[in-house]
Amino acid sequence: MASDKAAGTFPVDQPVKALIRDHDMVRALADKYLNSDSQEVKKQAGTQILQALHMHSRLEESIFYPAVRCIDASLISHFEQDHQKVDDLVATLEGMSLDDSHSDTLMRELITAVSAHIQEEENDLFPRIEGSGVDMTPVGLQMQSFEANLVHTQAQISDGSIRRR
Ligand SMILES: [Fe+2]
Ligand SMILES: [Fe+2]
Repeated sequence: MASDKAAGTFPVDQPVKALIRDHDMVRALADKYLNSDSQEVKKQAGTQILQALHMHSRLEESIFYPAVRCIDASLISHFEQDHQKVDDLVATLEGMSLDDSHSDTLMRELITAVSAHIQEEENDLFPRIEGSGVDMTPVGLQMQSFEANLVHTQAQISDGSIRRR
C-alpha cells in the first residue's frame, strides 16, 4: 500500500473524500459565479467550473461508478444519465465566450443540474459505500493515477504541446 507521502494529497483510502472536495470546489465556484456582478469574475469562475466538471465527470465515469455499481446499479445508471446532460451543457459552454446572456442562461442551467446531482450523490450513494464491502483503497489508487494523468494531459493542452481530443 502507498504511504501517505507517496499518496500525495489524494486520500487513496477514502476516495469519496476526494469527490466531496471536488463538489465543495464546484459549489464555491458556482456561488462566486451566481453572486458576482463582475463580468470578469463570472467568466473566470465559469471557466473554472467547466474545467473542474470535465475532470470530475471523467474520474467518476471511468473509475468510480464502475467500482460502486454493485451497490445500486439503477442509481448509478441514473447518475450516468445526469452526467450526459451535464456533459452536453459543458461541451456547449466550452465553445462559447461566457460573456453574453445566452451563455449566462446555460451556465445557470448547468449549475442547477450539477447542484442537484452532487447533492444526490452525497445523500443517496456516498453514505452507502461504507459497509458495502467494496474495498475503496484500490479504487482510490486508480482514481489518484487517473487524475494525475488528466492533470498532466490538461497541462500539455494548456501549453500547446498537444491538442485536445
Ligand atoms: Fe457525478
Ligand atoms: Fe460527483
